Amino acid sequence: MIIRLCYGRRVQTSLKLVACALTALFYFGFLFRESMNAFEQNKDKAEAAAVAVGLIQPPGKGEIKIKRFLKESLANRTNKRIKNIPTSSSSVSYVSSSSTLNPVYEYSEEIHSATENDLRQRRQHLQQICEKYNLYSFYPPMPKEFFISPGHNLVWCNVFKAASSTWMYYFNILGGYDPKYLQKVETPPIELARQRFPRPYLQDLLDSLPSSLSFLFARDPFERIVSGYRNKLEGGKNSYYKWLANRIIKRFRKQPMSAVRPKGPTFNEFVQYLIEQHANQKVYNEHWAPIYNFCTPCSINFTIIGKVETFNRDSEYIIRQAGLESLLLGKLPKSALKRIGNLSKGAKTYNSLEKYFSEIKRSTLDQLIDIYKLDFELFDYNYTKYYDYVIPDEVETEIPLLSATLGPRNEQSSHH
Ligand SMILES: *[C@@H]1O[C@H](CO)[C@@H](O)[C@H](O)[C@H]1NC(C)=O
Ligand SMILES: *[C@@H]1O[C@H](CO)[C@@H](O)[C@H](O)[C@H]1NC(C)=O
Ligand SMILES: *[C@@H]1O[C@H](CO)[C@@H](O)[C@H](O)[C@H]1NC(C)=O
Ligand SMILES: *[C@@H]1O[C@H](CO)[C@@H](O)[C@H](O)[C@H]1NC(C)=O
Repeated sequence: MIIRLCYGRRVQTSLKLVACALTALFYFGFLFRESMNAFEQNKDKAEAAAVAVGLIQPPGKGEIKIKRFLKESLANRTNKRIKNIPTSSSSVSYVSSSSTLNPVYEYSEEIHSATENDLRQRRQHLQQICEKYNLYSFYPPMPKEFFISPGHNLVWCNVFKAASSTWMYYFNILGGYDPKYLQKVETPPIELARQRFPRPYLQDLLDSLPSSLSFLFARDPFERIVSGYRNKLEGGKNSYYKWLANRIIKRFRKQPMSAVRPKGPTFNEFVQYLIEQHANQKVYNEHWAPIYNFCTPCSINFTIIGKVETFNRDSEYIIRQAGLESLLLGKLPKSALKRIGNLSKGAKTYNSLEKYFSEIKRSTLDQLIDIYKLDFELFDYNYTKYYDYVIPDEVETEIPLLSATLGPRNEQSSHH
């Protein structure tokens, strides 16, 4: 038709030529767009099928969420501006979610149902412990420690020193920051995250919980405090922690150490500090605050109790349940992936647990366990092995002991 229109007539003015060219351009443009749409739709169908295969599960909230996610993502395809996806990486994320569904680890129906089983048991166990000690509502929720993303129906309680930097990164992605920006910016990630997810009020939290997927990550309580101690006090650079380190040394060091003077307080001095703070009912710093009074899992009915030991699996489960695959799966920078790999094996902190606990004596360990016992129980960790590391009772009398000379002096609270 176009050919006839253009060449079949005898009158061929230059004006006509231009009109013909334009018509042809429109026609082929239209054809191209149609074929692209068909292509996109096929891709969507393929993706839907793949997701369905990977995620078939007992009917419930999850399935509805996935359906909703698929519907929304179809709707969003036609909408060029996809909210919350940085434009520079939107095409990449789309390709990765449709071509490789298992970028983090082997994902299958078996793994999926094993995970659900595991997570159900963790929840049941936690509820049994809450019941056993009648802890429901005993510790009032601390809403300001939560991150709520209403747009993604996600509620996270950030347990410091339990792989928190990864989920901080994820929340910053959800908050709309470009990954490239996140990798070069100097502002601490938590400050960036708080700009997008301000500290909520109790009512915000209570309103969000019923329609959200809520989660936290737990870790062996003593791994957490060793990690917090190493990171913040043992040669810490931050001025607040330098100040705290000096205060702990002044308070708990009996005579100046002669030979090698450690930069910060010794682990034993730190533990003495924890015990005294607890005895004086001071609020702990968030890096060593027990989870039971920080995230208050007996007052907040968390959907998912993640653990550092199964961090990758649990995180991927959460991401899939929340329908955030295209935004978050495989989106960690390489440096972060390495770190998590090490953490889930417990590498650095784990290897030094024995070394640090060999500094404290058995009766000190007893006191420390008293403080963290509930976390051990709630999240099913076992403190028995720590008794193998400490200075046994029988040599107690031969060693000058710090705690024996501890006075009841009161110290200022140091919660920051
Ligand atoms: C689709 O777009 C809406 C609004 O722009 C957004 O709230 C929703 O999260 C998007 N869904 C997906 C799956 O990207
Ligand atoms: C927590 O929520 C689940 C459903 O998500 C419910 O079955 C359970 O009874 C709730 N537990 C408490 C203590 O409210
Ligand atoms: C993690 O472990 C690998 C090898 O085991 C090592 O090369 C890397 O430096 C470690 N990363 C960190 C952050 O410790
Ligand atoms: C902890 O592990 C030891 C063996 O290592 C076991 O005897 C003990 O019963 C366990 N404790 C709990 C509370 O499970």
